[in-house]
Amino acid sequence: MPAPNIDTIVSLAKRRGFVFPSSEVYGGLGSAWDYGPLGVELCNNVKQSWWRWLVYERDDIEGVDSSIILNRTVWKYSGHEETFHDPLVDCRECKSRMRADKLEGYFPPEGKDAVFNANERIRTGLVKCAECGSTNLTDERHFNMMLRTTLGAASAEDDPTALAYLRPETAQGIFINFLNVQTTMRRKIPFGIAQVGKSFRNEITPGNFILRTREFEQMEMEYFVKPDAEHFKLVDEWVDSYMEWFAELGLDRNNLKLHEVPAKELAHYSKRTVDIMYRYFPERAEEERQWEELMGIAYRTDFDLRSHSSKPTDEEGKRINPDSTEDLSYFDEAVKERFYPHVIEPAAGVNRTVLALLMDAYSERTNDKGETRVILKLSPQLAPIKAAILPLAKNKPEIVGMAKAIKRSLQPVLRAVYDDTGGIGKLYARQDEIGTPFCLTVDHQSLEDEAITVRDRDTWEQERIKVVDLAEHLQKRLKP
Ligand code: GAP
Repeated sequence: MPAPNIDTIVSLAKRRGFVFPSSEVYGGLGSAWDYGPLGVELCNNVKQSWWRWLVYERDDIEGVDSSIILNRTVWKYSGHEETFHDPLVDCRECKSRMRADKLEGYFPPEGKDAVFNANERIRTGLVKCAECGSTNLTDERHFNMMLRTTLGAASAEDDPTALAYLRPETAQGIFINFLNVQTTMRRKIPFGIAQVGKSFRNEITPGNFILRTREFEQMEMEYFVKPDAEHFKLVDEWVDSYMEWFAELGLDRNNLKLHEVPAKELAHYSKRTVDIMYRYFPERAEEERQWEELMGIAYRTDFDLRSHSSKPTDEEGKRINPDSTEDLSYFDEAVKERFYPHVIEPAAGVNRTVLALLMDAYSERTNDKGETRVILKLSPQLAPIKAAILPLAKNKPEIVGMAKAIKRSLQPVLRAVYDDTGGIGKLYARQDEIGTPFCLTVDHQSLEDEAITVRDRDTWEQERIKVVDLAEHLQKRLKP
């Protein structure tokens, strides 16, 4: 049984130290969230799992960590300055500002693929305000979503030479480093470059907890292939790989589905995109409205490498990019041919993955006393804390000493905590609710037989394990 809705997770996340509303002491900041002690561990575990899976376990992927603020020209030639915008409208009645393409009536009944004039539809009263239902809306205008800043202490706010952007995707930091990575690591095509890090978008309507925020984290990988590779088939192959990875992380296949992005909605660089959707809104009656994008897998052609290169020219022989000093083409020794590699891009969000994992892991169970307990059945590899060591008698120094020594001995190999702040029932319940796979109890008998009780989070079953075998026993059970 997954969480019935996102609100259940918002409340658990705050209560147990996963995610807090940001800047709360000053009344908060819309759609900004801070990750607490358990949230930061969960995010790190997701990122590490992804990095291990792609960069360590495969032989064809390297990693990078590029700057968040890049030369502004990067965003000119990537197309983001011109095309990275959403349609925006204001309601003249209730003064709300909204993304037009999310409003009822924006698209004609034939669906998103049909040819239509948005402002004509707005003016004829077909589009409805999401807040008050009024059709008295302004014409739509384009709103660029890149967050701006100015560089340099002396720069004036409106100095165009000081203007810079916080990156809206990590991908461009990979493209501009393509040649650096390829030559230094002596890579042959096909190979990929992975990057994980923060991205920023001035979303018009952020919301739904960590699903849509203005600051978020991405895990992106650009996979460089030949111009004549079977690009659409490669998209399918990466979709399958990611579906397997999500299953390995513990997501239920029934809560995932694929969505082929219609041609009209493709980003300016994409020839094909398949989104993997997660059922973030199970409470919605209409099945179609239960889903939101978890990640996308796009065929980006050679658009980015070509746009950032100094050599390509237009029909009149003029350089398309007069600002670039490099040609990001690749020389294929085998066939003695130079070309711009084409790219398959799986782009995932850390925060959306974390939200999906929390929702999927949520479950409830009733104990012998008829009390309902929350159990967060996170995959052990992702659990923020792997083992909690709980002394059965906290006023008995030998038991406390033994419990603390066990905690210290486990700490180098796995994340363990010591807790004696309540009765055993309460301590078990707290660990179940944060997803700790194992509770280890030290009791009077432990002092004699050098063994402790290991309690399983999901089954509540207990077994006696010798302290000398403990680390190996737990490590075995923690393996994905
Ligand atoms: N480089 C391609 C790219 O950025 P995208 O579909 O715009 O593609 C990839 O973003 C992923 O990043 C999304 O599938 C989502 O998981 C995450 N993401 C995008 N915008 C987000 C936002 N405002 N808040 C949280 N996550 C976001």
